[in-house]
Amino acid sequence: MIDNMRIRENIPDDAAALERLYSATFPDEDLLPLVSDLLDEEPSILSLVAIVDGVPVGHACFTGCAIAGTTNRAMLLGPVAVAPAFHGQGIGSALIRDGFTRLRNANVIQVFVLGDPAYYGRFGFMPSTDVLPPYTLPKEWRGAWQFVSLSDPGEQLYGILSVPRPWCRPALWAP
Ligand SMILES: CC(C)(COP(=O)(O)OP(=O)(O)OC[C@H]1O[C@@H](n2cnc3c(N)ncnc32)[C@H](O)[C@@H]1OP(=O)(O)O)[C@@H](O)C(=O)NCCC(=O)NCCS
Repeated sequence: MIDNMRIRENIPDDAAALERLYSATFPDEDLLPLVSDLLDEEPSILSLVAIVDGVPVGHACFTGCAIAGTTNRAMLLGPVAVAPAFHGQGIGSALIRDGFTRLRNANVIQVFVLGDPAYYGRFGFMPSTDVLPPYTLPKEWRGAWQFVSLSDPGEQLYGILSVPRPWCRPALWAP
């Protein structure tokens, strides 16, 4: 793990650094509109940046979602981005684990993610069948829809995850 890294909530001054980070990390996928809409519009997000030598080199976003009568007790994780030069140094893991700690303190019950189980499994994510994503996923992606419980003992949620406007783009939920 890199030793001169710290994590904090993102601030408006991070905007240019986040633009550079997302262009470098996702050259073929334009996630910036999603990220900037979440930052501009969503009061319910937890947006964390990893800082090395004063520069944001990693970002993880958690969005508060509604489900079957609960609000902001379920969060959607994504995107997660670490600058390519800093991959494999524990920054992505530190951002996700730091987010879990903050969300647990905020009484969040479960976190959901659409991502590679080979990566997210290490944080305790498991396939979610009780809570479904807002859009029907292609068959080959169904194992990528996962959840982790933060409450102890695990409280169960059931239903369809209702996401706020920036996430309501079918292209974000399809290959
Ligand atoms: C995925 C990502 C966030 C991980 O960040 P990171 O800081 O490199 O991750 P960490 O250092 O905490 O963990 C690295 C470990 O994860 C593994 N890993 C990274 N991406 C993986 C993937 N897609 N599938 C399986 N394992 C993966 C690495 O092989 C490494 O394994 P090791 O600990 O056994 O050596 C980063 O690689 C990234 O930004 N990738 C491009 C964008 C992306 O795919 N984002 C996630 C989807 S939103």
